[in-house]
Amino acid sequence: MRVPSIVVRLAAVDESAWKLFDRVAGDYDQVAPFFAEYGRAIMDVLDPPAGCRVLDLGAGRGALTAPALARGCAVTAVDAAPAMVERLSADHPAATAYVMDAEDLDLPADSFDLVVSSFVIHVLDRPAAGVAEAYRVLAPGGRFAFTGGSARTSHRGGGKPDAPAFPLGPRLDALFGEFAVHLPPNGSMGTPVDAAELLEEAGFEDLREESAQVAIEFRDHETLWRWAMSHGYRAFIEDLPDEHRAEFHRRVLALPAEDRVLHRATGIWSGRKPG
Ligand SMILES: C[S@@+](CC[C@H](N)C(=O)[O-])C[C@H]1O[C@@H](n2cnc3c(N)ncnc32)[C@H](O)[C@@H]1O
Repeated sequence: MRVPSIVVRLAAVDESAWKLFDRVAGDYDQVAPFFAEYGRAIMDVLDPPAGCRVLDLGAGRGALTAPALARGCAVTAVDAAPAMVERLSADHPAATAYVMDAEDLDLPADSFDLVVSSFVIHVLDRPAAGVAEAYRVLAPGGRFAFTGGSARTSHRGGGKPDAPAFPLGPRLDALFGEFAVHLPPNGSMGTPVDAAELLEEAGFEDLREESAQVAIEFRDHETLWRWAMSHGYRAFIEDLPDEHRAEFHRRVLALPAEDRVLHRATGIWSGRKPG
């Protein structure tokens, strides 16, 4: 089952998504290196050459910044959450890092060869504004690539790579789906972004859809719970009424003990700025 409620829109009620990420920055990707693994896989697909001017849009703690730096790219990383940027700067001093709104970048036009954004566009208040800004700051011929929350895709949110031998993803998704009915109106539910439409409307051409996969092993389901609370899933969990949150926690801990490897896949959608 797909998990539109959590994959698509992470913003808690009345809260821009970055505020939640600012709160969880200390634990983000520290319980399990889920986003770091994705970042490596995404950069392997995009394969930017040394010297490439890369903008990591909504960089978090540097899941994409780290592999881009390792490839010899010149990386600028921006995020709206000051606590994320503080940690990214400390861990990756070679990157130029700014606290900045992806929807309103204080960066010059035509100044990057690659803009890349993992699991950010769909949590923006105005996804189209973020994609338009990516277009503006790209040099002609440059490419914008992003992951997360697309309706038009062959890699729908989660679960696709999970063979029956690896049922944790589908089981977790089913649990989120079951509890989504308890969310308040305008809670963590939202409208999926349409990757192809967003890219086309911003003016991108030569659209591509590629994919990346990760497999993350959790020591136990308490660790899985701590991981869920350390990133965007937390918005869903916090939006549940108290009694349902407690039950949700209990159900996560009650998942089959041998079921500890989470397999996920994401589409990587990209387009080229003409020129
Ligand atoms: C799911 S995290 C992904 C972070 C990172 N790209 C990664 O793969 O680990 C989403 C990130 O988007 C950032 N974000 C949310 N809204 C933003 C905005 N308007 N401008 C810039 N960053 C934003 C959050 O602060 C958070 O760090």
